[in-house]
Amino acid sequence: HHKFNDFPKDFLWGAASAAYQVEGAWDEGGKGPSVWDSFTKLPGKTFQGSNGDVAVDHYHRVEEDVALMAEMGLKAYRFSVSWPRIYPTGRGEVNEAGLAFYERLIDALLAHGIEPVLTLYHWDLPQALQDEYGGWEDRRIIDDFERYCVTLYQRFGAKVKYWVSLNEQNYNLTNAYQLGTHPPAVQDRKRFFAANHIAFLANARVIKAFREHVPNGLIGPSFAYSPAYPASCAPGDMLAFENAEEFTNYWWLDAYCFGRYPQAALAYLKESGEAPEILPGDLALLREGTPDYIGVNYYYTLTYTDNPLGGQTMQRINTTGQKGTTPSSGVPGLYRTTPNPHLETSNWDWAIDPTGMRIALRRLSSRYALPLMITENGLGEFDKLEAGDKVQDPYRIDYLRSHVKACQEAMQDGVELLGYCAWSFTDILSWLNGYQKRYGFVYVDRDEQGGSLRRVKKESFHWYRQVIASGGKAL
Ligand code: BG6
Repeated sequence: HHKFNDFPKDFLWGAASAAYQVEGAWDEGGKGPSVWDSFTKLPGKTFQGSNGDVAVDHYHRVEEDVALMAEMGLKAYRFSVSWPRIYPTGRGEVNEAGLAFYERLIDALLAHGIEPVLTLYHWDLPQALQDEYGGWEDRRIIDDFERYCVTLYQRFGAKVKYWVSLNEQNYNLTNAYQLGTHPPAVQDRKRFFAANHIAFLANARVIKAFREHVPNGLIGPSFAYSPAYPASCAPGDMLAFENAEEFTNYWWLDAYCFGRYPQAALAYLKESGEAPEILPGDLALLREGTPDYIGVNYYYTLTYTDNPLGGQTMQRINTTGQKGTTPSSGVPGLYRTTPNPHLETSNWDWAIDPTGMRIALRRLSSRYALPLMITENGLGEFDKLEAGDKVQDPYRIDYLRSHVKACQEAMQDGVELLGYCAWSFTDILSWLNGYQKRYGFVYVDRDEQGGSLRRVKKESFHWYRQVIASGGKAL
């Protein structure tokens, strides 16, 4: 029997989204195409060819959506800015209409006392930069990204305190350069580590610039953290678990926070010829651009077992929504995933593990000694709109409740947690899974065929409203 401390008074009770997943208006207001605008139009890439051309039409419904946030009592809203809305071809002339759109959103949030949490990059790279020099594979992106970020610092630095630099570089680039499931759909480990290295440099550069332009703000990357578990206490499984934590998590977090790569992983990659090229000055830059806090996107833990040479390779994730169809995935000689028999899973085979979130927060807090913010956590499920405009999603309430409790436990364990942003506020386009995998507190009436785009509050909307109103007491 445990008595918990109350959540801090200024705890950021939030919800999150990303530009491509909600805005639509893909070619309006002077916006240029992003790599996602192109990629989703290629046959067979997404569920039923689903794309974000219209998404949930947030671009045209900002006031309506912010009014719903205010009704819910949200304290924070995390959103991302679309780079090609600001610089249609990645650089050059700034597009004032793009800035004006985000200014309208930010002002609406502030008018309701909702703290904006601004993500600079949530995967929608300007297509022009991909075409010109291969995007994240060329160091020229560092200057271009910095110019774009500084434009936002100058315009919004006085209004926005919390900033996220790169969203889920680890997950996005793993899909983009190892699994081939995100643009530019490459499967090449050497290019994967090279692109990541350049992204680390870009991340550090924009954090450095942030200090100059937004001295009172806080900035950090959002990391997709899937804490590793060993399948057993067999030494081979323990080693696989250590390998997985270094190769799939600390590779990014150590680079962000310590400005160096973890030792065993680096030694392995040098041996295999896949290590990134580290030029003089690179590591110094990383150390000059470390974050103020770590954004944590937590959905599940992964359990690892031994994987001999010649064993399981990387496999694409389950995008079908059919339970039990996720293959084991791994790197021969290092690790492979295996289902955790102790955990229930969602319809997309994501393990539901609130204790894993407590473990995640503790591991990161003790390794990096930084404040943390949950920048994403939520449950993607098939929701049904029922007669009388009802959406009953008790499974989502259970998921969120148990994870918010895990946050409370982690804080009891000494973790400094700035806030909790549920993924997502409204339903969104789930990149590869279309509109059928829903995350929102607010149902949006649309599917791959279209729909009215009407907003309907789910049962979880009312639940979260009470949680916030009670400062976390009514969990
Ligand atoms: C994260 C992303 O990977 O998880 C979000 O930052 C994404 O953009 C979320 O929507 C859930 O993933 P998915 O594949 O279920 O949409």
